[in-house]
Amino acid sequence: MVRDKKLIVGNWKMNLDTNEASLYLHKLAGMVKMRRDVEVVLAPTLLALQSLSLQIDRRQFKLAVQNLYWRDAGAYTGEVSATQLRGVVDYAIVGHSERRHIFGETDKDVRNKIQAALRNNIRPILCVGETASERADNETNDVLHDQLAAGLANITSDELTHITVAYEPVWALSNGKDFASHPTPLPEDAASVAAFIRRQIDHMFGKNAASDIRVLYGGSANSHNASGFLGAEGIDGLLVGGASLNAQEFSEIIEKAHKGSAVAKK
Ligand code: 13P
Repeated sequence: MVRDKKLIVGNWKMNLDTNEASLYLHKLAGMVKMRRDVEVVLAPTLLALQSLSLQIDRRQFKLAVQNLYWRDAGAYTGEVSATQLRGVVDYAIVGHSERRHIFGETDKDVRNKIQAALRNNIRPILCVGETASERADNETNDVLHDQLAAGLANITSDELTHITVAYEPVWALSNGKDFASHPTPLPEDAASVAAFIRRQIDHMFGKNAASDIRVLYGGSANSHNASGFLGAEGIDGLLVGGASLNAQEFSEIIEKAHKGSAVAKK
């Protein structure tokens, strides 16, 4: 079952040029042991995907794109389609809060992108999460409900098995550097949100789908808080931003995912 493995995703956002990405990958590859119980995915700049896909050992790391356009081809200047990414990446981050809030991506865009990824054999990682003001207004569950209902509309139960949901509370995201000191939810709060997400999936797709879907936590995850989140009920991995840009820090997070699951199996 897919939830037997922890999933650790490094979202490099708009950091590292092609050369830096290649050097970083080389360094990280020397630090990270291949583990059967941990899947590691890297989401570099779009520009570096092609070269990293040649450099990478896919048994050790997989690649994700940070965004894609939902049409397969055509007159869409500046966009890159899932069809073009097919074979280069295994995963696509879809509906990241920075896409939603800075670039005005709507739930309909998110839905279209998920479907585009699926029809091109790319596994979507659907990001959901409330802003600080939505949290202050007690709207977290409503926001998550709407984002899940809209993002997963028209998906079949079979397609859902290829989808991962990432809970990324917008207020907990670091600026890329302050990930060690930025406020985050408590692991038990992340666990109750994961339970809420599974209830929504249950309503939409049934019990099996709800217990099988992978749910990640993201927002200032680092080597100190990783074990707490990874040990929280219903959390299957981490979507890491700032801390994934530091090879030492990121490799420690990966090692914690392995250690945590080794303890859990005892
Ligand atoms: P930080 O880990 O820097 O808060 O970023 C999280 C994130 O947005 C990952 O997609």
